[in-house]
Amino acid sequence: MVQIALLGHGTVGSGVVEVLRKNHESITKKAHDDINIKYILDLREFPELPYADKFVKDFSIIENDPEVDVVVECMGGLHPAYDFVKASMLKGKHVVTSNKELVATKGAELLKIAREKNLSFLFEASVGGGIPIIRPLYQCLAANEVYEIAGILNGTTNFILTKMIREQMSFQDALDMAQKLGYAERDPSADVQGDDACRKICILASLVFGKHVYPEQVHTEGITNITLEDVEYADSLDGVIKLLGRVKKLDDGHLSVMVCPAIVGRDGQLASVEDVFNGILVRGDAVGDVVFYGRGAGKLPTASAVVGDVIDCVKRLEYKKYLCWDEGEEGYVKDYRDTSSRFYVRLKASEPQKIMESAKKAFGELRMAHRNNAPEDEIAFATVSEVREGDLEKMVSQWKQEGTQVLGRIRLFDY
Ligand code: HSE
Repeated sequence: MVQIALLGHGTVGSGVVEVLRKNHESITKKAHDDINIKYILDLREFPELPYADKFVKDFSIIENDPEVDVVVECMGGLHPAYDFVKASMLKGKHVVTSNKELVATKGAELLKIAREKNLSFLFEASVGGGIPIIRPLYQCLAANEVYEIAGILNGTTNFILTKMIREQMSFQDALDMAQKLGYAERDPSADVQGDDACRKICILASLVFGKHVYPEQVHTEGITNITLEDVEYADSLDGVIKLLGRVKKLDDGHLSVMVCPAIVGRDGQLASVEDVFNGILVRGDAVGDVVFYGRGAGKLPTASAVVGDVIDCVKRLEYKKYLCWDEGEEGYVKDYRDTSSRFYVRLKASEPQKIMESAKKAFGELRMAHRNNAPEDEIAFATVSEVREGDLEKMVSQWKQEGTQVLGRIRLFDY
């Protein structure tokens, strides 16, 4: 029998218990061993639960119990999760985690400890909720030089944007619904400001390109400035707005990594990824495009990925399968101002014609965007060619200085 300890009995942790209990028989067969939850660490009391006797409040009970082989961390946040995970590994315990903040910030260090101590450190649930993406990337697609990944990596924001696009629901109402459904982070600003998606693209970029990309190296924009007007203009450009995390390998060996709302073509691969679903497009030199799709948040989908890792870990207690990437370095991720994209811009100008002339002069051909009942002083367009980000920023500040209000600015991506 393999003894495991679960850290955290919130949305994901309670889902892990549910899946392990419900599918106990088949999981035992697949793991070639009986998996028993010996402890659950949580500061709260759950006297009504049939497994109430497993709860402990003191981590040292778990840390110092040599019977515990695997620690399953579902607490979220950096502290004390990092301290508990590190201490567990230093005591020779394997770790499975769903914690994207932990992996995005401390992944290189924890993977190094795992290798030195001959332990598994697995984190399938940290990206894409229930979607298998970590294992396919380092295993099934290992033959490829992957050169680009673009993903809808946050279920909460995709849910909000879908409600805005499909039902013209307000941002706040949609966010309230996502919170009630258990999709959002404890502090939902991590969802709507793009930090959660940022952590996930950092993990994917680190895994695929072999060097740690830290969240602070990634230009990150959320969806808080997206309005129903932008949604309508995007529609007139045959697109929908999605929050994307994207990493691209540049010819000079650097990475371009970014999280931002983007207009993607209605017929593209990611446009139809709606509600809480995530979609991750991977471009490899041998395989071409592969898209992974599924529930990106929620109790049981995330628990599915965690328990999958637990089974893998238990099966290979003797034969580890190491994941690894090196520590990152400054300058590895290119300054986003030196990269280029197509842009949609929405302005409020007293002399719209004059603005259009300066935009055409700076950016070349433009495609006009439209919406019903737009005021006469509002204009919106998309550039046909890519524009250097730094050049667009200069133009925008010039317009602002001249008294023009820049109401919206969204990149257009071809996925
Ligand atoms: N808050 C996250 C999301 C949970 O909405 O995608 C899954 O990481």
